[in-house]
Amino acid sequence: MSSAREIEIKKLMDSILRLKWQKNATIIAHYYQTPEIQEVADVVGDSLQMAQHAAQSQADIIVVAGVYFMAETAKILNPSRKVLLPDTDAGCSLADSCPPDQFKKFIEAHPGSPVVTYVNCSAEIKAMSDIVCTSSNAEKVINSIESDKPIIFAPDLNLGKYLIQQTGREMILWDGSCVVHENFSIDKILDLHTAYPDAKFIAHPESQPHILRIASYVGSTKGMIDFVKRDHHQQYIVATEAGILYQMQKEVPHKVLIPAPAFEDNTCACSECPYMKMNTLEKLELCLIDETPEISVPENIRKKAAAALRAMLDVTGIQQSS
Ligand code: 13P
Ligand code: SF4
Repeated sequence: MSSAREIEIKKLMDSILRLKWQKNATIIAHYYQTPEIQEVADVVGDSLQMAQHAAQSQADIIVVAGVYFMAETAKILNPSRKVLLPDTDAGCSLADSCPPDQFKKFIEAHPGSPVVTYVNCSAEIKAMSDIVCTSSNAEKVINSIESDKPIIFAPDLNLGKYLIQQTGREMILWDGSCVVHENFSIDKILDLHTAYPDAKFIAHPESQPHILRIASYVGSTKGMIDFVKRDHHQQYIVATEAGILYQMQKEVPHKVLIPAPAFEDNTCACSECPYMKMNTLEKLELCLIDETPEISVPENIRKKAAAALRAMLDVTGIQQSS
């Protein structure tokens, strides 16, 4: 028999699907969203896939089930659409770590250096960039830069260090971090590996260098899902936000997926992004009914940020509709 909450969830999901159809709306969700939100979404993906779908969407309304910078990215790339975010408090510790006035001074201190920013930043920061990258195309973007000056990279220090190691390029790094990926405990991961000696350890590049050093695979959320699909192992310890396990398990139903433990986590052994998890089915339904909160970006900032995002899509070889 279904519980009262299960019946409520079913009603909310039916209502959201009806509203999408009535309003010609599309929902673009990140892998870190709850399973119910992933189920009502038209697209579930990593930051690059979300940006790509938003750029090409013909829907009247684009609802971004993710965090603020993702909704801003959708608006920057497809400004004629109404872009909604169920909770505008859904920020990101990386984006928050890089205030525009301080970043402007940082750039000015290194004249002539190309500026590459990780997509997890505000529209103002993107507008100060030559090119944006995501975790799935960062190496390609860095390798595309021809300048012999050191490359300014912000805001993720861990991803920046990983890129220096992978590309051998000289880079000047901003000191920002993700609250989720900073928090993985090497001791607990090693203990877990003792309990599951056949498990491969895979990690997102926002994790710290000593965590990445022991990983058999490092990549974006989509990269991690693709890896467990093509790899022949049966067990994996997965170091990224635990929401990814829903899609990953759907793709490899017979494999064992174990969330990597965080420092102070003695209960569920998993890591959740407090910002990503601000979105709920209730807020999603309400935002489709009221068509708010709507995201807007001042046109002078939007144009510059769009150029940096489109430069990224060009380097990645992604077809652009406009
Ligand atoms: P990707 O899904 O692009 O790998 O990014 C992870 C992330 O932290 C998004 O906020
Ligand atoms: Fe930002 Fe980290 Fe949350 Fe991603 S997981 S939105 S990088 S705080």
